Amino acid sequence: MSKRIIKIFDTTLRDGEQSPGATMNVEEKFQIAKCLQRLKIDIIEAGFPIASQGDFEAVQKIANEIKGLTVAGLCRARDIDIDRAGEALKNADNGRIHIVIATSDIHLKHKLKMDRNQVIEASIKAVKRARNILSDVEFSAEDATRSDWDYLCKITEEVIKAGASTVNIPDTVGYTVPQEYFDLITYIKNKVPNIDKAVISVHCHNDLGLGVANTLSAITAGAGQVECTINGIGERAGNASLEEIVMALKTRPAIYNADTNIVTNKIYKTSRLVSKITGMVVQPNKAIIGDNAFAHEAGIHQDGILKNRATYEIMKPEDIGIPSNKIILGKHSGRHAFKVRLTELGFDLSIEDIDRAFEKFKDLTDQKKYVFDEDIETIVSKEISRIEEAYQLKDISFSGGMSANPKAKVVIIHKEEELETEAFGDGMIDAAYKAIAKLTETKSKLNKFEVQSITGGTDAMGEVTVMIEEKGVIVRGTGAHTDVTVAAAIAYINALNRLELKIKRTQKNN
Ligand code: KIV
Ligand code: ZN
Repeated sequence: MSKRIIKIFDTTLRDGEQSPGATMNVEEKFQIAKCLQRLKIDIIEAGFPIASQGDFEAVQKIANEIKGLTVAGLCRARDIDIDRAGEALKNADNGRIHIVIATSDIHLKHKLKMDRNQVIEASIKAVKRARNILSDVEFSAEDATRSDWDYLCKITEEVIKAGASTVNIPDTVGYTVPQEYFDLITYIKNKVPNIDKAVISVHCHNDLGLGVANTLSAITAGAGQVECTINGIGERAGNASLEEIVMALKTRPAIYNADTNIVTNKIYKTSRLVSKITGMVVQPNKAIIGDNAFAHEAGIHQDGILKNRATYEIMKPEDIGIPSNKIILGKHSGRHAFKVRLTELGFDLSIEDIDRAFEKFKDLTDQKKYVFDEDIETIVSKEISRIEEAYQLKDISFSGGMSANPKAKVVIIHKEEELETEAFGDGMIDAAYKAIAKLTETKSKLNKFEVQSITGGTDAMGEVTVMIEEKGVIVRGTGAHTDVTVAAAIAYINALNRLELKIKRTQKNN
């Protein structure tokens, strides 16, 4: 029997973006979408067009420019949401309107304040409206796994009748377990009379660490589409991770007899790009793409691997696209070599962006002898992430030591004016942050401060990621430099600029 092809619906740009601090701008989303296209994703959920102007523009740009796949836009079961999604998707090769409404009693009572019949009516109306705009409509029964099963079957039947061609049964709160989810999908398949007219989709969150296990269980029960994200990023504990689902199907064909269209040797690049752009570091022991996923530490394992890799390896690193040797560029590398390397790393940049990144690369070769792939990814992701800057860091200098009080002098440009101040602190970074806070008069609170060395060696670039919050708005900022204190200052200024932009946009939307 030939293998079933399971459709991959990637929601990194929508549910993934809902990870705290992972907000992406249009260009960042576009770069990821291009990478997802090369990975051969079937459906890219590009955003939630009604949520903000930025979301609308991202969905529109991806729909206009990424061809040969389906681009989906999320909306609630409301006319304005549906029309906005339709507008954003109008030039897509294949556009899909994705409608979500909750079906569990707890959501109906406390969130929607609607009864079961009202939800069915609103769903039918929404699907019909969407079908008048596009022929591809997906319906999601939010919190399906905590909904009454017969009610879920009823609403599923009705939305299929109204024209939905994909019906999604999300485990919104990551509550279900593999056996129960298998039973639920089987129940729906047996009880919904017109289920053969739609694809059953599953969407699992990872609150109990079961997102991937539940997804695989649903595939066994007959689901034909899975919703997932790169690196498993997403709301709370995240979504089921794409790379784990895809590689489980590949590695265990006898169990699943199913495969995907994914070009697996592009997984690693995509994972790195998403991590760089969102600032969400992949844990070293993460399955498939973590730094340690193919590292063998115990002597007995190393001995086995040297004799035959199959002793301790169930997949080959090259299947995922993990490079076997690192390409190193340096002072004498030219623009052409740099550009070729960018393409190999999965970037697809405009000439202007390449020129800017090349200048940064040259600056870096003055500071460090060898420039690794990781350094290039860092430089380039900063270029992609460039935003309108309310504050620019012009200069920073430090003094201090074991016996002297740490002091930072900071010069920034704001509204074409040069502002300068000094501050003391509990260490150089603290002093720099105090000076920046004084100059910008920020009221934000620093929630997270993380330093990472991009490569090894004392001349390595340090990358700092910060998360700041003001009035419930959380943003991330990153900075990279061979001097980690400078990187920290750049990251803080970057976060303040993002905050200013986000607050401005929110005010415009309200
Ligand atoms: O988790 C969820 O229920 C969702 C829906 C929008 C599918 O993200
Ligand atoms: Zn979700």
